[in-house]
Amino acid sequence: MLLVVEDLVKHYVSGGFLRRKEVVRAVDGVSFSLNEGETLGLVGESGSGKTTVGKTVLRLVEPTSGRILFDGRDVTAVKDTRPLRKEMQIVYQDPMSSMNPRMRIADIVGRPLQIHGMVSSKRERDERVRYLLERVGLSGDHLYRYPHEFSGGQRQRIAIARALAPEPKFIVLDEPTSALDVSVQAQILKLLKSLQEERGIAYLFISHDLAVVRNISHRVAVMYAGKVVEMADVEEIFSNPLHPYTKGLLASVLEPSPDARAPEEVLPGEPPDPRNPPSGCRFHPRCPLADERCAKEEPQLREVEPGHWVACHKVG
Ligand SMILES: Nc1ncnc2c1ncn2[C@@H]1O[C@H](COP(=O)(O)OP(=O)(O)O)[C@@H](O)[C@H]1O
Ligand SMILES: [Mg+2]
Repeated sequence: MLLVVEDLVKHYVSGGFLRRKEVVRAVDGVSFSLNEGETLGLVGESGSGKTTVGKTVLRLVEPTSGRILFDGRDVTAVKDTRPLRKEMQIVYQDPMSSMNPRMRIADIVGRPLQIHGMVSSKRERDERVRYLLERVGLSGDHLYRYPHEFSGGQRQRIAIARALAPEPKFIVLDEPTSALDVSVQAQILKLLKSLQEERGIAYLFISHDLAVVRNISHRVAVMYAGKVVEMADVEEIFSNPLHPYTKGLLASVLEPSPDARAPEEVLPGEPPDPRNPPSGCRFHPRCPLADERCAKEEPQLREVEPGHWVACHKVG
């Protein structure tokens, strides 16, 4: 296993003293693992805690509790995170937000090479950046341009080149194609898959878009209100969803038939407020199968078939 996440918790605490203290239970006991060269898709509605999981795993956000093992090392315990940064990278939905608009592409993509001492001269750096740009489908001659001179899809390619630069083993992709047109989206997914085949990089692919997750993932974890409610191989999740929430998500998105039910019919109501989640199963207020036990007792994630994990009292 390249990455093992055990019982990860992230509570954002605000207020205190004069203001009422508020605790946002963004992530509340999430466990999963990832093999080298594997893609785990992390799906769920907005606010379910996906980004927080991704950032916490990289220690861009400090976990409240839990254990993260990367390549045998305890990520939560390391004092100097720089060696981790080299091996674990992240690509965001909006690459502009993480690029200095006054920096040229050579500096943006070349920076990790310099930080990690992988090049010894500017000439060497530029050569390496040129190679990376070409690898992600851009022209090497774009080296001295600025971010605003590129389209959204091209900027995402630049962000991917920057993530690749330090030769990481693992990349968190946080909605990397959500802002792009469908055709551009498909090209980026194809690029990510070919890079994975070539370099054996593992991905945590975060998205609210089930079609995209199905396209790229080997396994899928479904998040609801800070918890993983179901996890299985991609084919299994899509052909044999067991959790009522997963079923609702799939029914609302993937049925192209004219008599498909509207999303609000399949999944009535709203996700809960993470400052005040429901008792028992967090999905019970919206669940068509819920009974008294579901309102009282929190279901644990259990392996109901080999490799297929579900947290639901109503499943076998
Ligand atoms: N820095 C923060 N401070 C307080 N609350 C936060 C912070 N970041 C995220 N949250 C809250 O945590 C919950 C999960 O957010 P997030 O991880 O961004 O979910 P997702 O990526 O699935 O949309 C949301 O309710 C969000 O408002
Ligand atoms: Mg997010």
